[in-house]
Amino acid sequence: MATLNERKVAVVGCGFVGSASAFALMESGLFSEMVLIDVNKEKAEGEALDISHGLPFAKPVQIYAGDYKDAEDAAVVVVTAGAGQKPGETRLDLVKKNVGIFKSIIPEIAKYNTEGILLIVANPVDILTYAAAKLSGFPENRVFGSGTVLDTARLKYLLGEHLKIDSRSVHACIIGEHGDSEIAAWSSANVSGIPLNDFCEMRGHFEHEKSMKEIAENVKNSAYKIIEKKGATYYGIAMSVRRICEAIVRDEKSILPVSSIQHGEFGIDDVALSMPAIVGRSGVEGAVPIRLSDGEREALKASADTLKVVLKGVL
Ligand SMILES: NC(=O)c1ccc[n+]([C@@H]2O[C@H](COP(=O)([O-])OP(=O)(O)OC[C@H]3O[C@@H](n4cnc5c(N)ncnc54)[C@H](O)[C@@H]3O)[C@@H](O)[C@H]2O)c1
Repeated sequence: MATLNERKVAVVGCGFVGSASAFALMESGLFSEMVLIDVNKEKAEGEALDISHGLPFAKPVQIYAGDYKDAEDAAVVVVTAGAGQKPGETRLDLVKKNVGIFKSIIPEIAKYNTEGILLIVANPVDILTYAAAKLSGFPENRVFGSGTVLDTARLKYLLGEHLKIDSRSVHACIIGEHGDSEIAAWSSANVSGIPLNDFCEMRGHFEHEKSMKEIAENVKNSAYKIIEKKGATYYGIAMSVRRICEAIVRDEKSILPVSSIQHGEFGIDDVALSMPAIVGRSGVEGAVPIRLSDGEREALKASADTLKVVLKGVL
């Protein structure tokens, strides 16, 4: 078995999301080797060449198209392979198609790479994270999904715009399913430690209920809106992949709302969904039990139940 190369990443699936993620990872300087894998080898080769041509303006990375054997020593394997949402299609509609694809690719990855981290990005990401954990046989801390990291970025961006402040000063997250049943955890939201509603009033906003509803809906519908306008979403998720890889490679112990299998927290068991977690070199290193209101707890439980029904039908 090959020793892991801490500076190597594999990206499986080189469509919109895989290629944008590969580009963001190349620019990040986090890795010195990157293998691109796709059932369409020509596409992987084309992306590897195109991305490599930016290297004179970045830090050195060896980028090439390869096979699963080439991923044997990758510290992180980013899985984006799968069909994307068509206009009007929900993430859950994709489930059968993409679980089928995972049944062929996850065992291939696990055949060669037994020690790396599987970062699942393809949708529906919570269902596929659960499937990948079962299909790979990896310890659960090393199989997790990008989950609501992207939705949380959208929430922070929109709150930053609403309040006319840097979105990085906003502390708020989306939890639950990466999809229609996701929940904005308003009760723990703050701006640099100041409770959100207090900060809103400082900035001249007083209609809290209305704004929260509008912003949460806007976050939830972002993907539908973008897909309707340009056919796919990929830059936001690419930056999310880069951020998660950064937390892993630099062993940051950063708190990110990634999707992982839950074990009894908030009464939720044996289903993958997003909750804030400590992310470092070992993957998901611990849960962060944020305070939730009764309504948020109920919505979280409902989100888990939605996912469980889907899981029953496919695995
Ligand atoms: N988690 C998120 O926040 C998020 C955000 C955006 C998109 N996505 C998801 O990412 C996935 C990819 O989206 P996209 O827009 O890049 O789609 P795409 O159709 O552009 O790319 C999919 C790629 O997967 C490859 N592929 C298909 N089957 C394969 C197999 N068996 N082995 C290897 N490669 C295979 C295809 O050849 C293609 O290059 C979708 O499921 C989409 O819903 C997730």
